Amino acid sequence: MERDTDLVRPTKTLKLKSFSSTHNGGLIKDQYGRTFDYVRIAVNERCNLRCVYCMPEEGVDFLPQNDLLTTDEIMRLISVLTENGVKKIRFTGGEPLLHKGIVSLVGFAANAGVKSIHLTTNGLLLEKVAKPLLDAGLTGINISLDTLDHQKFVEITRREGVEKVIDALNLALSLEFRSVKINVVFMRDFNHREIGDFVELTREKPLTVRFIELMPFDAHQIWKTGKFFGAELIEKEIRRLHPGIEPDSGTATEHSLFKVPGYAGKVGIIPAFTRSFCGECNRIRVTADGKIRNCLYSDDEFDLKGLIRNGANDVEIGKEIRHAMWMKPEDGWVAQRQGDHGRESMTQIGG
Ligand code: GTP
Ligand code: 5AD
Ligand code: SF4
Repeated sequence: MERDTDLVRPTKTLKLKSFSSTHNGGLIKDQYGRTFDYVRIAVNERCNLRCVYCMPEEGVDFLPQNDLLTTDEIMRLISVLTENGVKKIRFTGGEPLLHKGIVSLVGFAANAGVKSIHLTTNGLLLEKVAKPLLDAGLTGINISLDTLDHQKFVEITRREGVEKVIDALNLALSLEFRSVKINVVFMRDFNHREIGDFVELTREKPLTVRFIELMPFDAHQIWKTGKFFGAELIEKEIRRLHPGIEPDSGTATEHSLFKVPGYAGKVGIIPAFTRSFCGECNRIRVTADGKIRNCLYSDDEFDLKGLIRNGANDVEIGKEIRHAMWMKPEDGWVAQRQGDHGRESMTQIGG
């Protein structure tokens, strides 16, 4: 993976905790004192778009269905994770709305007592399932939308559909999900001139628009073409347009969150490449093939699917989850140095 050292902003050094049993109940934790109560579960790898920063036109080597967790296996993991203190679930993919069991999975999580159930989607298939998802207990939707322009959408996603995604956004807002956000992967020349238009969306609507730094998770390496636009520059640009923006508070990934005075919504920046929020990381990742990844930038994988298929009980699965998270590297830079990204695309990691 290419690394631009000029962009390195080291995270605060975390204090190493002395070794103690990692399996003694309570919240899942690591050696640096972080606790993990948020799980991102990728329910599939496939997608109906081909975003240039994610996949080549022809897709990537998707795993055969048999290698992916079944709906029942995902439900089993949700039970074990909640028994181990997880309070927030985000379903990702691939495109999670391509999964036939998505409404059942949300309903299962709600019945398991999870109060914060979210989904990250490209929105194309939301129309039919938005209400069933709400009724099943979904509390929040993050919609990936990198441009508001018809032609640019085609350039970035290699498919038609911006109007459909905007309709999906309006539908999500009208259904009054507790949280509706737009993820904008910010790229020089592709969409950086639209920053003002995206901020304007927050004038009337109670949504959060988040500008995300481009990350080098793409086999075909758009990363190397100079599209990167860092968090500090994004903030500078927002401040140039709206000098009066006020700081607000958001989730751990929303390292900077702002409000334009008088606007209904919020604007955030996710320093996904700069990684200045690792000290607050509370995330566990489960890939579609049932592996735990303890950091987005780590190659280490801990196989839960193998355990499930070999008849492990809930306590054994819980122990493996705790072990995986205990081994989490200090931050995303350390994680990156330890491996060179075995998976070709974000769609195989779960975003
Ligand atoms: P909220 O719960 O609403 O904050 O959502 P989220 O940001 O956790 O989830 P989402 O799926 O919307 O992800 C938005 C962007 O943040 C994606 O590009 C993710 O890859 C990136 N992101 C999420 N978690 C991490 C992380 O642990 N490290 C880094 N570097 N980026 C992350
Ligand atoms: N860099 C930054 N964000 C990415 N996403 C997918 N690939 C990348 C990348 N290379 C984003 C999607 C979606 C979220 C889950 O991850 O746009 O909003
Ligand atoms: Fe699909 Fe998301 Fe990848 Fe775009 S970024 S191709 S929407 S998985």
